[in-house]
Amino acid sequence: QELELKLEMLEKGGFDHFMLKEIYEQPRSIKDCMRGRIYPQEGKVQLGGIKEFAEKLKNIDRIIIVACGTSWHAGLVGEYLIEEYARIPVEVEYASEFRYRNPIITEKDVVIAISQSGETADTMAAIEMAKERGATIFGICNVAGASIPRLTDAGVYTHAGPEIGVASTKAFTAQVTVLTLMAFYMAQQKGTITTSKLIELLTELDHIPEKVELALESNDLIKEVSEKIKDSTNCLFLGRGTGFPVALEGALKLKEISYIHAEGYPAAEMKHGPIALITEEMPVVFIATQNSSYEKVISNIQEVKARKGKVIAIVTAGDTEVKKMADYCIEIPDANEAFLPLLATIPLQLLSYHIAVMRGCNVDQPRNLAKSVTVE
Ligand code: G6P
Repeated sequence: QELELKLEMLEKGGFDHFMLKEIYEQPRSIKDCMRGRIYPQEGKVQLGGIKEFAEKLKNIDRIIIVACGTSWHAGLVGEYLIEEYARIPVEVEYASEFRYRNPIITEKDVVIAISQSGETADTMAAIEMAKERGATIFGICNVAGASIPRLTDAGVYTHAGPEIGVASTKAFTAQVTVLTLMAFYMAQQKGTITTSKLIELLTELDHIPEKVELALESNDLIKEVSEKIKDSTNCLFLGRGTGFPVALEGALKLKEISYIHAEGYPAAEMKHGPIALITEEMPVVFIATQNSSYEKVISNIQEVKARKGKVIAIVTAGDTEVKKMADYCIEIPDANEAFLPLLATIPLQLLSYHIAVMRGCNVDQPRNLAKSVTVE
């Protein structure tokens, strides 16, 4: 037994939990995911796994993304990026709902199935149905040779390495990285982006792993913030644009491992419901970085402060505006809006991790949850 314990410690690489180890692996896992796929100087993306379909991508009518859980959140980020850069309409569906509807699918549709494990039953069933109806199926998976990669026509692996913690961390950022690459790849195929714009974006993307490293440096501050809100019974996460799926993912992480009830919402939707819940007991986490929705988010923060909610804001380094209003600010490096999810997710992972540890929860194996759900 002692040997087993030692082995486990070794596997955790000096970290207290697999989840923390996996959070800290992200600068490397994101880099691994991009390796051999981006050529910043030429402004080129190469995705060997879907190369065969390069021509087809020029003429597709629509993309349908199917996934469950955290992978579905990555899909929502993909929707924003693919529509923005490749100008292809995207729908993001819960695999479990999609499979039991009578969805309209044609041969000109591409279905992208996202799954860390590659074994999720609902996602597999959704793929089978779409395939029968003639769609082309791409997979984004982490586990090589799993069932989903075998079911799909083509795909792109995330290469994040084994993820042990039940709550997904590095697999999520790798999925988002692949979707970012896919958006750029499709844009390149369709001619909806110029080479000079791609050079600019890829040069920045190439340096995202270093920025993730910087985001991790807020760990001590995040621990302090965690201490202040760990006894809450509810928590709200708000964001706009790609900050919205990031908010959903932040809320999911917190509820999964700390058992605090948490909701993610588009910041502007707050006034249609969640605002009724805001009291001084309610922490509200905002994705408030300096991008196109910054001013709007600031007014949402004011609405929360006017109701005495406790505001924790993820802000761009050097921010002064939000600092005047928020109770706690956590900085992330400045970046193009396209890369915001890769950075803003990091402090939220750490926040849920520390809160869960402080509450004495089993971080790596939360109650009632499974790493992969192979039954419906
Ligand atoms: C389970 C896991 C989640 C995961 C979801 C989808 O609920 O606990 O972390 O996001 O399944 O899994 P997949 O392997 O398909 O990404």
